[in-house]
Amino acid sequence: MKLSRKILKFTEPLMYRRGWRRAQRSIFRVPLGPMVAKIDQQRAREIQQRYANSTAGYAKYANIEPWLRLNRERVQDLNLQRSAPKRVLDLGCGGGFFLFILKNLGHSVLGLDIERVVLFTELLELFEVPRVVWKISAFEPLPDLGQKFDWVTAFSVNFNLYHPSKERWGTAEWEFFLRDLQAHLTPGGKVFFGLNPLYDGDYYSPELRDLFLSRGASVERERIFFERGLRF
Ligand SMILES: C[S@@+](CC[C@H](N)C(=O)[O-])C[C@H]1O[C@@H](n2cnc3c(N)ncnc32)[C@H](O)[C@@H]1O
Repeated sequence: MKLSRKILKFTEPLMYRRGWRRAQRSIFRVPLGPMVAKIDQQRAREIQQRYANSTAGYAKYANIEPWLRLNRERVQDLNLQRSAPKRVLDLGCGGGFFLFILKNLGHSVLGLDIERVVLFTELLELFEVPRVVWKISAFEPLPDLGQKFDWVTAFSVNFNLYHPSKERWGTAEWEFFLRDLQAHLTPGGKVFFGLNPLYDGDYYSPELRDLFLSRGASVERERIFFERGLRF
């Protein structure tokens, strides 16, 4: 098969799925206005102004509206705007944008993150999104979270990095992590990861992709979705 045809074979379904998600978003809208109206506007402005001249990488999150729009897409792409109330755990929840939207849609939410960035704590307080402070580490189980979840999500994942080497987890670490996650899920509970690219632009090694697939995921570039739960 010619290279151009091979590329088309790979990119066509991807473009189709993206187009489908875009279309769904425009059909099943999620108005942010009423949600934003519930936020303490004065506090939101104060946070934004305080970080306006900050050179810290995370300072961009102080301007909340673009991040709410991005996270609205995440909610829509997982169809959570059309779902009955679910219990959702978001790993590496950051400022809690995703969970803030879900909470407003009637879901019960919990974030989990380290407590390194003060801005994230401020945003979580602004959004009134609860968070468990916990550092996810390779081969260490998550804490008892007092409940099981219908959904576990993680976006722009970077808890899978070793410090300071920035080396990424291999299949053994992910296998341990997925098995442990299973204990925190209701039967058939869904899991979604949005991975960050590796430095060479790839999202995973072929072995890791195979592991995700063998555990029941659909894998679409950075999107790893265990829509029917984890398979062991
Ligand atoms: C790139 S940010 C993404 C934040 C949010 N998920 C989003 O997409 O807007 C990665 C998040 O993961 C958190 N994080 C990094 N390492 C972690 C670890 N070992 N355990 C828990 N959270 C971690 C960071 O504090 C940060 O909030």
